[in-house]
Amino acid sequence: MKILVINGPNLNLLGKREKNVYGARTLKEINKKMLRVAGEKNAELDFFQSNHEGEIVDKLGAADKSYNAVVINPAAYTHTSVAIRDAVAALDIPVIEVHISNIYKREEFRHKSLIAPVAQGQVSGFGEYSYILGLLAAIHTAGNK
Ligand code: DQA
Repeated sequence: MKILVINGPNLNLLGKREKNVYGARTLKEINKKMLRVAGEKNAELDFFQSNHEGEIVDKLGAADKSYNAVVINPAAYTHTSVAIRDAVAALDIPVIEVHISNIYKREEFRHKSLIAPVAQGQVSGFGEYSYILGLLAAIHTAGNK
């Protein structure tokens, strides 16, 4: 079981970015926790972070050749990117959308996800634990396909 974990713009700044919203953990620390959980479930993880929409589209485009599932936090592109949505819709593998914050509790412009209607499901609002829940959902869903 191989899973690709994609993080969108500004998530490289976790740990110093709006700590009251996103917590104090760095992306590297979150990835380490995910690796530990993946190891217990015999899953392999690859990580990709980019601040550039096209790079995320390219990565998604090739994902079903090498991976059984994708966990993605599209960050701000969640609310704006038709290109990322279309790339997700084109995949034959489950894609789980995750958010650290509860996007429905925040500003109105964050309430709409363009990704959610084409994702397998969404995890939102559990802090860094959203990634672990998303990973478990990805392993479970891919395992049943
Ligand atoms: C986010 C929520 C988005 O609205 C925001 O633009 C982010 C992070 C989250 O993980 O809570 O960058 O995806």
